Amino acid sequence: LREKPLNVWRYAPFLPVKCNVSLLEGGTPLYDCRALSKQLGVKEVYVKYEGANPTGSFKDRGMTVGVSKAIELGCQTVGCASTGNTSASLAAYAAKGGLNCVVLLPSGKVAAGKLAQAMFYGAKVVMVNGNFDDALNVVKSLADERVLYLLNSINPYRPEGQKTLAFEIVDQLNFEVPDRIIIPVGNAANIWAVYKALSEWKALGWIDKMPKLTGIQAEGAAPVAKAFKEGSSDFQPELNPETIATAIRIGNPASGRKALKAIYDTKGYSTTVTDAEILDAQKLLGRKEGVGVEPASAASIAGLVKLRNEGVIDSDERVVCVCTGNVLKDPDTVIKSCGNILNAEPNVTDVKRVIA
Ligand code: F0G
Repeated sequence: LREKPLNVWRYAPFLPVKCNVSLLEGGTPLYDCRALSKQLGVKEVYVKYEGANPTGSFKDRGMTVGVSKAIELGCQTVGCASTGNTSASLAAYAAKGGLNCVVLLPSGKVAAGKLAQAMFYGAKVVMVNGNFDDALNVVKSLADERVLYLLNSINPYRPEGQKTLAFEIVDQLNFEVPDRIIIPVGNAANIWAVYKALSEWKALGWIDKMPKLTGIQAEGAAPVAKAFKEGSSDFQPELNPETIATAIRIGNPASGRKALKAIYDTKGYSTTVTDAEILDAQKLLGRKEGVGVEPASAASIAGLVKLRNEGVIDSDERVVCVCTGNVLKDPDTVIKSCGNILNAEPNVTDVKRVIA
């Protein structure tokens, strides 16, 4: 591995296809967040900043692999249901790969940046009058009818690519495995991909322990966290999921049972955070560390704060928070929640007055 640059295809021996389409995804920063670790009284806090990927989220890791497979299979049209990031990513990789792309989105619940991306890269954008779970059901049927090749994370090639998120974390820490990795959970494939990656390296003897995988959900969309609280290995779908973190506004996660297995097997944890806690955490990360993430990503930071306060996370832990998407994905939420614009006349005196 050492001779290859840090990106998804450095880990080609662990991926099930050859690279047919790439935008140089992966190789994202692992920030050492000293100010945050000091404030929270946790020995080491790192942020894996997935907002630095080509389309601004971790989805690009799975999409380079998934779309490479689609090309290998000779597919002409790819598609997905999405809360926004998957569609943005698929649209870009389909463009690069010369494929047609159809994306189904929950009407009115997709952040502006993500919607703009899907339109910009030339996908057919279909607004569905329902939530993500409804859109996923429809697109699955379209795949069954061979209208399109499905590139949601129930396609196993997607999580294969997403494994590289965990490979990179371990690589960037020089193979000193963190005690805990905190991950926001929506449709629940990413936490499973991280678990699969680490299990593969543990089986090879490349790492000696598994980090405690800790899945965070928004309070209004929390089937996995609720199942964990009850000690159950299965979850009850929620019919009307609601949260400001629209990326994880999902009531019936396709990989929910796998997520629970990943959490239990690693002696991990799962909990919920409120929308207010998410927005506070988003600002905390921006203003203490200069790192901008979207609300769903800030759920991992909110989870860190909450679980530290509750004593679930110990002061001597080395923790990695996965921050899945870029702050620019959802500018409207930031503008609403920050509200710190000053107005002035165009002269020095007045500007001095308002900034005083
Ligand atoms: N964070 C962000 C920014 C996301 O976009 C998603 C999922 C997640 C976390 C959760 O990951 O589903 O693997 O548990 N977004 C999907 C989408 C659902 O359509 O873009 P997960």
